[in-house]
Amino acid sequence: MACLIQLLTRSAESPTRLPWWAQTQRQCAGPTYNAAVTNPLDIDEKIKVTGGSVLKGEVGVLGAKNAVLKEMVAMLMAAGVHRLTNVPGILDVSLMGRVLDHIGASCEFEGHTLTVQVPDEINPEAPLDLVRAMRASIVVLGPLLARTGRARVAFPGGDDLGSRPIDWHLDSLRQMGAEFKLEHGVLTGWVDGRLKGATLDLEFPSVGATENSILAAVIADGVTTINNAAREPEIQDIAAQLNAMGAKVTGAGTHTITIEGVGALHPVEHHVIGDRLEAGTYAIAGAITGGEVTIRNCDPAHLRMELRKLEEVGCEIERGDDFFVIAGPKRAKAVDFATLPFPGFHTDMQPQMVALLATADGTSIVTENLYDSRFRYIGELMRMGADVTTEWQHAVVRGVPTLSGCPVLAFDIRAGAALVLAGLAADGFTTVGDISHIDRGYEDLVGKLASLGAQIERLAG
Ligand code: UD1
Repeated sequence: MACLIQLLTRSAESPTRLPWWAQTQRQCAGPTYNAAVTNPLDIDEKIKVTGGSVLKGEVGVLGAKNAVLKEMVAMLMAAGVHRLTNVPGILDVSLMGRVLDHIGASCEFEGHTLTVQVPDEINPEAPLDLVRAMRASIVVLGPLLARTGRARVAFPGGDDLGSRPIDWHLDSLRQMGAEFKLEHGVLTGWVDGRLKGATLDLEFPSVGATENSILAAVIADGVTTINNAAREPEIQDIAAQLNAMGAKVTGAGTHTITIEGVGALHPVEHHVIGDRLEAGTYAIAGAITGGEVTIRNCDPAHLRMELRKLEEVGCEIERGDDFFVIAGPKRAKAVDFATLPFPGFHTDMQPQMVALLATADGTSIVTENLYDSRFRYIGELMRMGADVTTEWQHAVVRGVPTLSGCPVLAFDIRAGAALVLAGLAADGFTTVGDISHIDRGYEDLVGKLASLGAQIERLAG
């Protein structure tokens, strides 16, 4: 709490000096913020994109949002100075920085390097405004219980993607000896002594439940085995960071992860893996405009199913170790796909792929298996002339020859990206509002697409 007060006092004393989380946004070419704005989600800008350009060139992606957020939390497991490199300047990193600030750590962000000083004593608490703003904050639960034996975390409600419960996180932590009570919207957890290793059988390979369990187990007493674990590349990267800190995690990237608890961890410097979702978004930008784009700093094996489906629609793809080149067809062919945990088609690439299929030749059937509200953006796509019918978890996308630009709203990160991609292929211009969602996951989407030849700009609110 002391650190949060210091943070607020510091900003109040010198209004021109922004807290670190707002400075991250200033340093990066993308979003700009008013110094008086205390909530970084209060952005009233729009993205204007004019369709018709054929994208060509090279673009590099930064570190994976879905790895870096958990790696920031992993740093709480050891006192001292930690460093993460290849960190994207996105709003979610800023928000997680505020969670860390609240817990007592201090963060500095410069040139895509995040330095975090973690004190010996931490405040095991994550407040409602931050948990609501970014649901991934729930991953602090395991680490706080492991390090302090206590946690007070606002219970996350639903979000833009649906109800999103956390029952599997809690089940795993309970099996390791934690107890919980939910009162007045706040989840209080405690453990008598240290958490204890356990055999955890996840009923679904949940990314968050796997991560919370790993983070809790690394300094628990004894061995933890996670069966039916999520296999996402980001989890492998988090395990690599934890192992460098002195943890003993084996099997990350497979269905069974084993963690041998150790007495203590130490700080390290860790380079975050490339963001496959950012890479996949630029790949579809190339595909949807019939262009040719080289995407660097991302292992194409992390997008195996997505690239396979892009080949099925008619793209040509050349794969390297940490880059790939994609050339789009004149007009995509329809293709069916279903979202699934890795190595299946990523749900976070579903809206961008649907934007492409909206102008494909033929009818595609898309099945969304992860989230109950992931098709909300389709109404906006239909304003642009897309012909789509949704029925519960299925979307029937009848490709039309061309979309027509108009004002639309971004409901979540990937929906926002999908609408920008649709705008690249549409007749006339499209303005995308509520772009704080896009800023949560993309550093300078506008600048990077413009560097490939897109006619795109940010407009002040
Ligand atoms: C993470 C990613 C998100 C991605 C998702 C699936 C981050 C910050 N977010 O989210 O971008 O879309 O993986 O790849 O890394 N569920 C339960 N109970 C639980 C936990 C999950 O019912 O205790 C459900 C969820 O509501 C959802 C499904 O399981 O329907 C998958 O969720 P999960 O894999 O846990 O995703 P997240 O970790 O929340």
